[in-house]
Amino acid sequence: MNILVIGSGGREHALAWKLAQSPRTHQIFVAPGNAGTANSNTGNAGSNETDIENVPITELNFPALIRFAKDNKVGLTVVGSEVPLCAGIVDAFQAEKLRIFGPNQAAAQIEGSKVFCKEILRKGSVPTATHHTFTNGNDAIQFLNEDRDMPIVVKADGLAAGKGVFVCDNRSEAIDAILRITKNREFGNAGDRIILEERLDGQEASVLAITDGTTIVTLQPAQDHKAAYDGDTGPNTGGMGAYSPTPMVDDAMLHWVEEHIFVPTVHALNCSAVPFRGVLYAGLMLTKQGAKVLEYNARFGDPECQPLLMRLKTDLPDIFEATIDGKLDQLPPLEWDDRTAVCVVMASRGYPGTYEKGFPIRGLDAAAKVPDTKVFHAGTALSENGTIVSNGGRVLGVTGLGGSVSEAKLAAYTAVKCIRWDGAWCRKDISDKAFLQ
Ligand code: AMP
Ligand code: GLY
Repeated sequence: MNILVIGSGGREHALAWKLAQSPRTHQIFVAPGNAGTANSNTGNAGSNETDIENVPITELNFPALIRFAKDNKVGLTVVGSEVPLCAGIVDAFQAEKLRIFGPNQAAAQIEGSKVFCKEILRKGSVPTATHHTFTNGNDAIQFLNEDRDMPIVVKADGLAAGKGVFVCDNRSEAIDAILRITKNREFGNAGDRIILEERLDGQEASVLAITDGTTIVTLQPAQDHKAAYDGDTGPNTGGMGAYSPTPMVDDAMLHWVEEHIFVPTVHALNCSAVPFRGVLYAGLMLTKQGAKVLEYNARFGDPECQPLLMRLKTDLPDIFEATIDGKLDQLPPLEWDDRTAVCVVMASRGYPGTYEKGFPIRGLDAAAKVPDTKVFHAGTALSENGTIVSNGGRVLGVTGLGGSVSEAKLAAYTAVKCIRWDGAWCRKDISDKAFLQ
């Protein structure tokens, strides 16, 4: 089978790498991909002989992607990011009778609209922060002025590349956030509606499940590190590293999350006539009162996908096809490597602010020789002379496996030490949260 992966980040490299290990996979195309997917020999230890090839089509060019899928007998398309999902790529492919893994546009609203997400959570009585929705900034400010000088979270309704959420300590910070969203229109139409939400305290965890709308297959728990710097300080990022499993979510809690979070969510989506097929990613806050949903994503997390797929043993095309066919109930239980996987993101100087691109990356060959590691590319490109250069904020996801969290961390950082480019940096404490309990 030929498979098309859509996207260009570390998550998509990990998906292509894992899909390539299936005996049923003939050829993988990645649109538009990165240097890691352009050259399957680049630090690609562990992959079989399946060809991985980049296709220069961007993720929102649906007509070109559909034409490519038809011309190249693509039997399965897998979408990495929320942007094409929320723009309706699944509906567009299905209209052409092409098989594609992911939720349709209506169901992807669970990520695309925080107001819709909250409505589903309310319908399902799923634990989450209390909230109020507003369609204009003045009403929101008036609400705050009614003596609500407390920690509060202000969120733009729509997609804002992770930047539309403001965790505020007091009323004046909250008013500032409201004005940025509604008056300055920093997030455009995504700010047409805003949510004011109770601020929750605790550790965050990512629990993902694959569902065909009827059966729910919960994946192993993971934990991201969203703050830029060590000790969870500094600005918010797309994620500076992740590990799985996390002791924050033991088997009993995972079961609880399945029963009290995923089951009622999938049921509420069905009752709202928006059945969800794909990956449901619950961003959880583990509060003293139990786990509560901070947000849902409609896709794999990046970087959570990298450690999860390092550990997954089950054939990935089998899982995706069973989801598309509504036959997840017939899939045997997922098999996992018992070891821990730690993924350390190496970033460009300046990220998550402005950064320069185009610096040659050295040491990838040495890193590829470190046992039990895999370097997933994110913001990388091949220069004209064939060298691999930095091409984004998050550049590499260096992932290690080990018998304990510490061993996995050591493996990942041993590979990190081999790699250098002008301005490369990473957090030094990825996975240390495992010891916070
Ligand atoms: P989201 O885009 O909804 O995942 O929010 C981004 C980040 O904001 C989350 O990962 C949390 O760190 C933080 N956050 C969101 N909602 C809340 C909340 N109700 N209480 C505390 N932190 C929050
Ligand atoms: N790692 C956070 C996300 O994928 O949204």
